[in-house]
Amino acid sequence: MKLPKIGFGTAKLSGTQCVEAIAGALDAGYRLLDSAFNYANEGAVGAAVRRSSIPREDILVTSKLPGRYYQRDLALPMVQESVYRTGLEYIDLYLLHWPNPSTDLYVEAWQTLVEARQQGLVREIGVCNFLPEHLERIERETGVRPVVNQIELHPYFPQTEALAHHADRGILTQSWCPLRRGDLLEHPVITGVAAEHGITPAQAVLAWHVAVGAIPLPRSASAERQRENLAATEIRLRPADVDRITALGRPDGRLKDQDPAVYEEY
Ligand SMILES: NC(=O)c1ccc[n+]([C@@H]2O[C@H](COP(=O)([O-])OP(=O)(O)OC[C@H]3O[C@@H](n4cnc5c(N)ncnc54)[C@H](OP(=O)(O)O)[C@@H]3O)[C@@H](O)[C@H]2O)c1
Repeated sequence: MKLPKIGFGTAKLSGTQCVEAIAGALDAGYRLLDSAFNYANEGAVGAAVRRSSIPREDILVTSKLPGRYYQRDLALPMVQESVYRTGLEYIDLYLLHWPNPSTDLYVEAWQTLVEARQQGLVREIGVCNFLPEHLERIERETGVRPVVNQIELHPYFPQTEALAHHADRGILTQSWCPLRRGDLLEHPVITGVAAEHGITPAQAVLAWHVAVGAIPLPRSASAERQRENLAATEIRLRPADVDRITALGRPDGRLKDQDPAVYEEY
């Protein structure tokens, strides 16, 4: 699967505000939209896509199955419900939202996404927040490798090993919270790189994502910031800048300490 260098995040946006934000994002040039059953905005995402004059096949709509529906008898109808809510014929990329290892249902849920793809409900399937052991297990037990793993990734938690693991297997890495919700934009290394390149701190961070081989999914309700963020994909940082930003990583750098080995979400 080929994905754009950047996508548009939609967590916390819903209703008309979400439709308007996505209309602005599509107008700015975003073509990859990230949504989820649990964001309660699949309807708004679908409405924005349907109202847009951009051909449907040029837009990639993503959604995600929440862990409370991982049993097979629940999972397939819930994927169908996602598609119905968008009002679209299909969803382009459908992901499992968290592995939730204690319930041990992610293999069953993955098998259901394989069926959903066979039925044409979704075009491609992937996962979020999977650790290497989870990725290896679903492939071993179903024979199907996810095309994407969407993980928390930003300069304070650069996920260098996960990126290498994915790259070795041809799995695309998407970065959630790519700006760490904005709380690293005043770090002197980030502002320093930005000043040297004549770009904004957010652009320095997003250009770093592209340089390390990840697809960031920044969210912004502001049309101006949406354009600023998209333009970052054209900025080339020097290898030394990339290394300086990667060096900001720290073991406790996650935003909310959500380690998928133990943190679960339903
Ligand atoms: N798979 C998962 O488990 C998972 C978990 C979390 C998130 N996600 C996905 O990842 C997406 C991104 O993560 P996120 O929304 O949590 O955080 P984020 O994109 O890192 O940060 C969003 C925040 O940054 C601000 N911002 C955006 N562009 C900016 C700029 N150029 N300068 C300054 N501030 C800027 C936004 O404010 P304004 O709106 O005011 O611009 C917003 O408050 C989500 O929307 C969601 O689609 C997935």
